[in-house]
Amino acid sequence: MRKRIHILAMGGTIAGVAGDCAATTGYRAGAVGVEELLAAVPQVNDIAEVTGEQLAAIDSKDITSQQQLTLIKRVRELLLASTVDGIVITHGTDTLEESAYLLDLVHFADKPVVITGAMRPATAISADGPLNILDAVRVAAADTARDRGVLVVLNQEIHSAQLATKSSTTAVETFQSPIGGAVGAVNDGEVVFYHGGEMHHLPNALNISEMLTSQKELPYVPILYGHGDDDGRLVRSVAAQGAKAIVYAGMGNGSIPARVEQELAAVRKNGLIVMRASTSACGMVTRAELSYEEAGFLSSGVLNPRKARLFLQVALLSGFSVAEMSKFIVG
Ligand code: SIN
Repeated sequence: MRKRIHILAMGGTIAGVAGDCAATTGYRAGAVGVEELLAAVPQVNDIAEVTGEQLAAIDSKDITSQQQLTLIKRVRELLLASTVDGIVITHGTDTLEESAYLLDLVHFADKPVVITGAMRPATAISADGPLNILDAVRVAAADTARDRGVLVVLNQEIHSAQLATKSSTTAVETFQSPIGGAVGAVNDGEVVFYHGGEMHHLPNALNISEMLTSQKELPYVPILYGHGDDDGRLVRSVAAQGAKAIVYAGMGNGSIPARVEQELAAVRKNGLIVMRASTSACGMVTRAELSYEEAGFLSSGVLNPRKARLFLQVALLSGFSVAEMSKFIVG
């Protein structure tokens, strides 16, 4: 039986329109509707029964936690629907890795969920969107993509949601997994996985995803970007503004300047969760200094600061203890 693949369109450059076909910047993101997107790549119909739905039409830098929750809710419905075999999401690349990771955390089925985007608007010469959509449908329809959670497919590569990140501001090969590399590729229609891959969803993801559908927004968890001469005053500021946890993107292996560490230790004592992440583009953040352990800071492992933030938001709402949070993090 032909696979039934449902496409959720969120906007982004893949649906972008520029005044000039030679322009790859200065366009309007999210301007093309899902029907038009699919019309540009009729080959998807040779692979599967494809249906489309417009869930949002945004520039993904503007995504709100309400829209992230709406996405979780709709994907949850589709995962439970017996009429759908796989899901493809077209999304702006600026926050694609965030939506991918968030959905992966609460993925509870063996159905593939594939998220894709494009670096060039739909109107550009050599637009990369159509092939990315075709490849995303190929992966979503592949039996070998089952049980792998949420996958990121762009530029003929397949990445895991946990590790993929937008590495270049403008290049079409922007999505990379600096830790671990791509999990597979799509070569002229052949979907190949290099290694096993595993799901990284939270324990009890089915119930957690249901709980999230009744939330209005995600808790306030700011990321503070570390730098030389950081005096830590922002720590006090975000704590006073009601932060429920803080991700501190430190230098190298999540190193925190002494003055900031003092401030973070003080808010941790008052109950705020503190997670060390890194401003570096590659590498895990491991347990480093004894003083970090003594202060009760978590380390982000393989998660970059943006994914660490989403993890804490969902873990806090789910009532995870600090020990449970620490156990879940890979690295
Ligand atoms: C966006 O993230 O919506 C705009 C940028 C892009 O999709 O590449």
